Amino acid sequence: MTAKEIRQKYLDFFASKGHTVVPSAPMVVKNDPTLMFTNAGMNQFKDIFLGNSIPKFNRATDSQKCLRVSGKHNDLEAVGHDGRHHTMFEMLGNWSFGDYFKTEAIDWAWELLTEVYKIDRTKLYATVFEGSAEDGTALDEEARTAWLRHMPEDHVLLGNKHDNFWEMGDTGPCGPCSEIHIDLRSDEEIARIPGRELVNTDNDDVIEIWNIVFMQYNRLADGHLELLPNKNVDTGMGFERLCMILQNKKSNYETDVFSGLISEVESLSGHKYSEGGNVEVAMRVIADHIRAIAFSIADGQLPSNVKAGYVIRRILRRAVRYGYTFLGFTEPFMCRLISRLCQDMGEAYPELLAQKKLIESVIREEENAFLRTLDRGIRMMDDLMAKSAGSKVIKGVDAFVLYDTYGFPVDLT
Ligand code: SER
Repeated sequence: MTAKEIRQKYLDFFASKGHTVVPSAPMVVKNDPTLMFTNAGMNQFKDIFLGNSIPKFNRATDSQKCLRVSGKHNDLEAVGHDGRHHTMFEMLGNWSFGDYFKTEAIDWAWELLTEVYKIDRTKLYATVFEGSAEDGTALDEEARTAWLRHMPEDHVLLGNKHDNFWEMGDTGPCGPCSEIHIDLRSDEEIARIPGRELVNTDNDDVIEIWNIVFMQYNRLADGHLELLPNKNVDTGMGFERLCMILQNKKSNYETDVFSGLISEVESLSGHKYSEGGNVEVAMRVIADHIRAIAFSIADGQLPSNVKAGYVIRRILRRAVRYGYTFLGFTEPFMCRLISRLCQDMGEAYPELLAQKKLIESVIREEENAFLRTLDRGIRMMDDLMAKSAGSKVIKGVDAFVLYDTYGFPVDLT
């Protein structure tokens, strides 16, 4: 199944269950002071959950562009170093606004995974919230009972507040959740250690794929929970990870979500992803970051020196630095990936096609400016290190001059 088919099957499935397919909200958030970027599919529905606005329909589904590089959910430093983390990712979601609740949400998740995507049911685990004395919340019996209709008892596990109570931020809509995990290990490994012992232990091959949140509460600024006016459902499944599973790959970057971008980087740089090491990391960083940058610009956020604009600038600079250092790029290259990105994602996200020229020119300009800074700064650093007589420490005043006078980022120093 191609990535495009996987995305479409999700939307078609929930449309067949009475959901309205809605477009992704912009990834850049302009009207919520608690967020700079959309970090979950439910952000655009926050006011509906809080009862501040009335939905046009009570079931919705979409594929939402999300960015987790700031605030409560921040994955930036891990990106590139493994095959699973991303800055921008797509979250497949379905929502009930005061309509269906736990049983239907669980039944449909099971049906989609095992009958439409045909995932081996013996490899799946579900976690259920065990309750929290601190918050005065109880074990989620309703979700547990619903899962036990599909899975044997030893595949339905209890989880604590950290793993099984989802919150958008320090305040706002929240609730107990049931996560679905999959065991991707070989049969021999499974015979040695059962998957249930590895759920939520950071094992690379026993991973979460879908989070089903039962939005029942609002977390207030004083930390208390109040009941929301309605019982809602908010689900989020990591699209890139799902593609990895269904396409039988070991890393998200080997799926057709990223392989087109990576082969473009290969032909521009003359390097091969299969070289491994820093070359592989750099290609992942670039393939990941170009999506975050392009979609942010398409959504109206240009790179700049402040707030959301600075986050985008830093992502772009991180990619350029990896390209410069490990792939030998001394001329703008990120802007040359946009055609390929449009080819892969323009159909699902037409805003990309509409803004293609702007995206390319903004990125080219940023790259040019940063490459000049980088080149000069690295030469100055080399001089400083040559003079430092083997010491790994440079003077604070030198770091300051590099930053203040020459614009060389302190984190790179
Ligand atoms: N809000 C939940 C999450 O982001 C489910 O969509 O994981």
